[in-house]
Amino acid sequence: MQHTRTLPQSVLIIGNGGREYAIALALQQDKEVGDIFFAPQNPAATLYLNAKSLTYKNHDELLQVIQENYIALVVIGPEAPLMDGISDFLRLHGIPVFGPSLANAQLEGSKAYMKEFISNIHVPTARYREIMLENIIEGFAFIESLPLPIVLKANGLCGGKGVLILDSKTEAKEKLQEMLEGKLFGDSGKKVIIEEFLDGYELSVFALSNGDDYVVLPACQDHKRLFDGDKGPNTGGMGAYTKLPKNLYNDDLEEKIKNKILTPTFQTLKNMGQPYQGVLFAGIMIVKNEPYLLEYNVRFGDPECEVLLPTLKTPLFKILSSFAKGEKIDTIEFYDIYCVCVVLSSSDYAQNFKSENYPAKITFQDSCKDVDSTLQNKDSEIGHFIFANTTLKDRILYANSGRAVVVLGKGKNIQEARDNAYKLATCIDFEGKHYRKDIGYQALKNI
Ligand code: AMP
Ligand code: GLY
Repeated sequence: MQHTRTLPQSVLIIGNGGREYAIALALQQDKEVGDIFFAPQNPAATLYLNAKSLTYKNHDELLQVIQENYIALVVIGPEAPLMDGISDFLRLHGIPVFGPSLANAQLEGSKAYMKEFISNIHVPTARYREIMLENIIEGFAFIESLPLPIVLKANGLCGGKGVLILDSKTEAKEKLQEMLEGKLFGDSGKKVIIEEFLDGYELSVFALSNGDDYVVLPACQDHKRLFDGDKGPNTGGMGAYTKLPKNLYNDDLEEKIKNKILTPTFQTLKNMGQPYQGVLFAGIMIVKNEPYLLEYNVRFGDPECEVLLPTLKTPLFKILSSFAKGEKIDTIEFYDIYCVCVVLSSSDYAQNFKSENYPAKITFQDSCKDVDSTLQNKDSEIGHFIFANTTLKDRILYANSGRAVVVLGKGKNIQEARDNAYKLATCIDFEGKHYRKDIGYQALKNI
């Protein structure tokens, strides 16, 4: 009998934040995966994961570097390249790519498009009005008709920061005007969605789709606000965890989310002739045990991706390349572990001031003996570091302004995973390091 051995396959990851570093870590454990390339560079991935990096100025150059480096799979991390139509271009040239088309990326790129799309197919969501400067009076009247607080959302992409939740109608009207005049979020805010506030708890639910069918991954919870107790401005996310306790997520809720939200969405896209290929991220609010869709994102969440990937038993490469090629994986297997991640940000992240301290040198505490083994994820039991927004100078790593590092803790229960994450958070330091101390509090309330 003849044995065929497949050569290791090179992968290109587009994007260079924490989510992409986590994807590289997961891919690296797979013998089927050869070189891992980043575009643009993630300096810490170069330092600790021996990742390579590529540059390109336009789609044609991207295709050229992909062909020159025999790249077998392209994984697109963030929304911006998807909104740039990279997936369509690469698919057209026969390159397997994990990431939806530009047409489907509109589900994240325009909140107005997304709200209209889901309202037409009766997906439960908050009541809303779409307002531009021409119909600002209608906006003022809708604000008057709603109970407090009032939710205002910039239509376009704002890196997770385009949502205001306001406790006064006067302030809501002022902010609406500022947004529409382009003073708050530039062009992204010139169309605004005004929404009723939904009072519940949030879930991040991810569905992998090959265009024909989909599978749901275990739910996560993110922590959007900058400070403990869900106080302060909205951020891209300050920490996440999975698995959720049964009172927050269970089979009954998953069925409702599939039947009321995900199935009608994927089915409609297919009927429209634009089947969804990639990961769809549903931001969901649970109110009185019923799911409401807050938003769709057309990518993995960051930092949700960081907690999901270490729980995967089925190799990530197999999953991403199958879905990219339109094939289906019937069962994705998971380890029976809990993961908690905590984002370590600069002191000025999501604030309205800029600190002079960045880039700030990253140091490791001598007392943390486990640290060495967690830098490259060498099967560490306790967890590992994920480097998001950093700079490398003379082989020394610096934290940039923003979400710089993510610490990931693993455990056989949520408490242990959380303790391990916070242990790692104290092992690494940089000037002005800020992090929330209450990640996973909703799960811990129940034990
Ligand atoms: P989005 O970008 O639409 O997910 O909004 C960012 C965050 O704002 C969400 O994760 C929620 O925490 C909050 N949010 C958005 N819409 C609503 C709403 N209608 N009611 C309550 N909170 C909301
Ligand atoms: N963590 C939420 C997001 O990625 O948008």
